[in-house]
Amino acid sequence: MACPNIKLNNGVEIPLIGLGTWQSGPNEVASAVEYAVKEVGYRHIDCAWAYGNEKEVGEGIRRSGVPRSEIFITSKLWCTHHQRVEAAVDESLANLGTGYLDLYLMHWPIHLNPNGNDPKFPKRPDGTRDVLTDWKISDTWKQMEACVKKGKIRAIGVSNCSQKVLEEQLLPFVEMVPAVDQLEIHLYNPQHKLVEFLKSKGIVPQAYSPLGSTGSPLLGDETAAALAKKYELQPADILLGYLVSKDIVTLPKSVTPARIESNFKGTLAAVSKLTKGDIAQLDAVAAAGKQKRFITPPWGVDLGFDNWPQ
Ligand SMILES: NC(=O)c1ccc[n+]([C@@H]2O[C@H](COP(=O)([O-])OP(=O)(O)OC[C@H]3O[C@@H](n4cnc5c(N)ncnc54)[C@H](OP(=O)(O)O)[C@@H]3O)[C@@H](O)[C@H]2O)c1
Repeated sequence: MACPNIKLNNGVEIPLIGLGTWQSGPNEVASAVEYAVKEVGYRHIDCAWAYGNEKEVGEGIRRSGVPRSEIFITSKLWCTHHQRVEAAVDESLANLGTGYLDLYLMHWPIHLNPNGNDPKFPKRPDGTRDVLTDWKISDTWKQMEACVKKGKIRAIGVSNCSQKVLEEQLLPFVEMVPAVDQLEIHLYNPQHKLVEFLKSKGIVPQAYSPLGSTGSPLLGDETAAALAKKYELQPADILLGYLVSKDIVTLPKSVTPARIESNFKGTLAAVSKLTKGDIAQLDAVAAAGKQKRFITPPWGVDLGFDNWPQ
């Protein structure tokens, strides 16, 4: 069973379902990726330098035996690397063992001090995150555009960017409009207005933590459970199929073979069954008292999102 693709604003095609790799341990992620690609049919892997497991992801891709050209690989620029984008790209390419990335994202619209007290999460003496507040993310973006021109990346995008950040800090200054914005999107945080804004600009929304991340209450949601029962599917299939039905690129993470398989096959089954009425019902769940974000790092910077804890 093949996963449908969607076209990015530069013509590059991206599969609507991708395997997430955050918190997939170095000792388990190679097997998870190999299984997903070789046995199930995934052709899209979502990676990041910050996940610390790109080498093993690359190993899993090679072990699958599927040609590199048939697999869509995303990586992300970490917050301490905004002043040396090309070197960061080269590091991810070397880690993954590939000559190009299909998509490269600015992980957060935040530049952390590269000379701070930690390479990943530097903090000031008072314990707050060491953010360089006068850095312009449009200067990061120019370096990302240069990497596309050099042929190291096929498409560039952002992650964790609100409409406010895009309109005030990025879109007026770009030569290449971001191809995607990867965001926390799921049943309890659907971000309807932002998704609509992105689509109006030709920016494809990507859903991270589509199941609500580790230990999620979404899997027990009663609306998802009722639809799962109706269609003889799992609640996870409904949660993921809901997003894919809306042309949102969806990135479920699992290192468990049975879940890797059902998150692909069950999701495609859900897409074929969910009606417009079902989608409307799911669209209304968060606003009816269930709104919740799960990923809210304490950056100490206003990112311009609705429902971000103060
Ligand atoms: N851009 C960003 O800032 C950002 C932030 C967060 C995430 N992401 C990306 O998005 C991906 C997905 O997000 P996520 O990892 O936070 O969370 P997620 O995919 O919503 O949930 C993953 C969790 O759900 C479990 N799970 C997976 N399939 C399941 C199923 N069918 N039934 C029950 N449980 C299931 C997994 O366990 P097992 O693995 O043990 O099966 C894991 O604990 C990440 O891996 C990463 O690639 C990006």
